[in-house]
Amino acid sequence: MRVLVVGGGGREHALCWKFAQSTLVTRLFCAPGNPGTASVAENVALDATDVPGIVAFCKQNQVSFVVVGPEAPLVAGLADALRADEIAVFGPSRDGAELEGSKAFSKNLMSRGGIPTATFKVFHDARMAREYLRGGISYPVVVKASGLAAGKGVVVCTDELAALEAVNDMIDARLHGDGGATVVIEEFLTGEEVSVHCLTDGRTMLTLPTSQDHKRLLDGDEGPNTGGMGAVSPATNLDAKGIRRVEEEILFPTLHQLSRMGRSYRGVIYAGLMMTRTGAKVLEYNARFGDPETEVLVPRMLCDFIEPLLACAEGRLDTVSDAVFSWDSRAAVTVMLCAAGYPLSPQRGEVIEGVDAAEKLPDVLVFHAGTVLQGGRLRVAAGRVLAVTAMGVDIAAARQTAYAAVAKIHFEGMHFRRDIGVRALGGAARA
Ligand code: AMP
Ligand code: GLY
Repeated sequence: MRVLVVGGGGREHALCWKFAQSTLVTRLFCAPGNPGTASVAENVALDATDVPGIVAFCKQNQVSFVVVGPEAPLVAGLADALRADEIAVFGPSRDGAELEGSKAFSKNLMSRGGIPTATFKVFHDARMAREYLRGGISYPVVVKASGLAAGKGVVVCTDELAALEAVNDMIDARLHGDGGATVVIEEFLTGEEVSVHCLTDGRTMLTLPTSQDHKRLLDGDEGPNTGGMGAVSPATNLDAKGIRRVEEEILFPTLHQLSRMGRSYRGVIYAGLMMTRTGAKVLEYNARFGDPETEVLVPRMLCDFIEPLLACAEGRLDTVSDAVFSWDSRAAVTVMLCAAGYPLSPQRGEVIEGVDAAEKLPDVLVFHAGTVLQGGRLRVAAGRVLAVTAMGVDIAAARQTAYAAVAKIHFEGMHFRRDIGVRALGGAARA
């Protein structure tokens, strides 16, 4: 079978690395890919959101299965367009992807389904939002752009002034374009976060092992939010009993509501959860795999990964038995190496050295996120540059190996957190 992966970051490199090992795959493409995916797949010079271009490529090259990495192509209707041409695709249709693409929609879905989440209000009108913020509510609050904002549309506001500014930025100044035309203002939740991914064909659901991202830029969970600075799997703040409860209180009701609201969903639901004192609450849903969570989940997967994803795409996940799904009991840790100036204004073009040496270490995988080959040299092409992943008997061992690999890599201005996995080990989030 010929398979196309859509996207070009660390998540897509990890997916391609795994798919390349599948006996079901005869040829593997990645659009647009990166120098990492080029080592395991054939890169195709197409933008991830070029819907007609991707459909035409699949038809011309007899691609029969597409796995979509990022959210933007899903929200743009890529899965719908492929299905219209009878090409199997892992990833929800445009209306299913609203689960991520519209926070107003997902909050409404959670209300209807009684799914635990922060209390909230939706505003389309800046004047009414301001009235609400001045109306004696308690702070902090969280102001969110309802639409896609490249992970930058969430502002935690400790006081009224900050919240008014966020509303102004989003609704009036359109800092995130139309993504901020509608805002959600919600209760600030405290606790520790955890990521739960489940595969679904719209009827059956299969929960993957837990993982935990590190969203803030600096050690000790300080600094601005980022796309994710590193991850561990398994997470240590949600045990097997907790996962069952999340399935019952959150995942199954989510699927039920999607189907009641007439949204078809064949793909992954990645729920970002806050473990509060009263239990898990949904911070957000994503309609795709997490990044960098994928970089710690995929190396732990012992079974073929194409088979269950194809089963989702074909609406027969019930035919894949749990027994087929096997996982390495070891832990995985990913440390994201970032460009100077990330997340606001990443500095591009710096030469990257040492990737080969890092990859030679046992139990280490280096996934390319934002790199480019220019003049035979590997250079920085985006804010998140490399996801350095290691496996180990436990998180402590995996993080030790991951940081040993990080020490081999260098580029000017390279920034990374030194405390990935420390919180999971039970320490404060500092090294
Ligand atoms: P989101 O894009 O909705 O996941 O938000 C990004 C990050 O903002 C989350 O991972 C949390 O760290 C934080 N966040 C979002 N919503 C809330 C909330 N209601 N309370 C506290 N923190 C939040
Ligand atoms: N890990 C954050 C994200 O993928 O949205």
